[in-house]
Amino acid sequence: MIIAVDGPTASGKGTIAKALAAHFGLPHLDTGLLYRAVGRQCFIDGGDPDDIADALAACAFPDSLLGDPELRSEATGGLASRVSVHPAVRQALYKRQRSFATQPSGAVLDGRDIGTVIAPEAEVKLFVIASVPARAERRFREMEQAGREASLESIAADLEERDRRDATRAAAPLLAAEDAVVLDTSLLSRDEAIARAIALVDLIRERG
Ligand code: DC
Repeated sequence: MIIAVDGPTASGKGTIAKALAAHFGLPHLDTGLLYRAVGRQCFIDGGDPDDIADALAACAFPDSLLGDPELRSEATGGLASRVSVHPAVRQALYKRQRSFATQPSGAVLDGRDIGTVIAPEAEVKLFVIASVPARAERRFREMEQAGREASLESIAADLEERDRRDATRAAAPLLAAEDAVVLDTSLLSRDEAIARAIALVDLIRERG
């Protein structure tokens, strides 16, 4: 079974994907982390994330970079969104994601284009959304816990800018697959969102 979990940043898709993987005993890949590693490597190299050649060179990041806590920062998220615009970068990361999705055990992948590009054949496709205020609030609390400073306004503005870039890019824009089920987590607690997602997966598999 392949479960595709797509949606915008801070929608809850990562939390949901991780919980689904644990519940159904499947391996999980956070594909945003790959784009974050490219963005981070480009920064380390002193490259320009908007330049195709610089962004593509950064796709050769070492695997050890995936454990770097800096990948989770807002700044790296912004760089990831910029390098992910280039089709050559998406192509360079395709094989790794595709192999993960098609391993015999099945898999859970979360990202932006799992249900549309990486695994269009996935039996379960969830498209997780939440309002900008709800997402900004969550990000704010996460950052507070991590001891990082940021204002709610600037977080909301960053989220909106990232949504716009991810949704309007020509290559694999953030878009719900036609056969995806939309899960709005705006008014749900973390546990409620997870319970709802598990129930949806069970329902989709029963009907499928
Ligand atoms: O989900 P995230 O915030 O970690 O993703 C960071 C950026 O990476 C996001 O703004 C767009 C890009 N991305 C993508 O283009 N395709 C994916 N499958 C995952 C992430």
